[in-house]
Amino acid sequence: MKTVSLFSGIGGLDLGFEQAGYDVIWANDWDKFAVQTYRANFEVPITLCDINAIGMGAIPDHGVLLGGFPCQPFSMMGSERGFEDARGTLFFKIAEIIHAKLAAGKQPRAVILENVRSLRTHNRGRTFAVISGILERDLGYKMYSMVLNSADYGVPQTRNRTFIVCFANHQAVFHPPGAVTLERRLPDLLETNVPEKYFLSARILPTILSNGTGGYCAKSEIDLPVARPLCATMAKMHRACQDNYVTQNGRIRRLTPRECARLQGFDDAFKIPVSDAQAYKQFGNAVTVNVAKAVALEVKNTLQALGEWQ
Ligand SMILES: C[S@@+](CC[C@H](N)C(=O)[O-])C[C@H]1O[C@@H](n2cnc3c(N)ncnc32)[C@H](O)[C@@H]1O
Repeated sequence: MKTVSLFSGIGGLDLGFEQAGYDVIWANDWDKFAVQTYRANFEVPITLCDINAIGMGAIPDHGVLLGGFPCQPFSMMGSERGFEDARGTLFFKIAEIIHAKLAAGKQPRAVILENVRSLRTHNRGRTFAVISGILERDLGYKMYSMVLNSADYGVPQTRNRTFIVCFANHQAVFHPPGAVTLERRLPDLLETNVPEKYFLSARILPTILSNGTGGYCAKSEIDLPVARPLCATMAKMHRACQDNYVTQNGRIRRLTPRECARLQGFDDAFKIPVSDAQAYKQFGNAVTVNVAKAVALEVKNTLQALGEWQ
């Protein structure tokens, strides 16, 4: 199934979909370091540039569209305005691409979007209302949305994300992927012989282990069996109430980039050609591969039942 990936990052969605048998033929991201990692791991041609600079003709026809797009607020005008309301946002760009394909009689049969859990409540529900209005009313899709937790799909990380799954064919019946028993815990994913730089110095330790302050007050806990959500700003080393720290050989350390990769479902063959700071950002931004694959398999089942899988 020919698949196009927008906002590809390092390709968590792309990898999961490839593992489920999809053929990713075109990808885009504007972050040169993310694209460096993507190119080190995929054969897929990825265009390095702002999506807004890409002409509609540059995107090949495809059956499935993937987009893990950044969440942005829409105007407060009212969700009835659809396209007009979302103009200028990155979601609008996705809608515009689908619209152009639709006009050419080449509407993607399925569209899979991923975003933060709070997308559904963002801007008091308006953001989601605009998105669903455009997908269902303006672009004619049958839409499903769900929040999936990575810990339900085999990786020991609590990571709740909204997935939107759309089908052009209204006969489609989609079942969210079922949860599997978590067989590995964070300690099972840890590397041994970890370089000194990942261990916390005596100077920084009290700050890291202190409970949060103000609005971010939370209990400082380390050695969690299921990791807290990896975030794009991990390189800054947040306190232990927001970030993941483990004890090894009697000393406390942060996770290594490889451990972050494992917590996002990237196996050890996945190359990490960038600095630690970039790697933390990239794995913090990624879609968990296991979740992507689980969704991809269910989308494939649905398309097969419709006779639209090719
Ligand atoms: C949440 S991450 C995507 C994760 C990815 N889809 C995955 O499956 O792992 C969002 C990505 O959007 C990219 N991005 C943000 N604005 C962009 C733009 N204007 N043009 C192209 N890419 C953009 C960022 O560089 C980032 O890699």
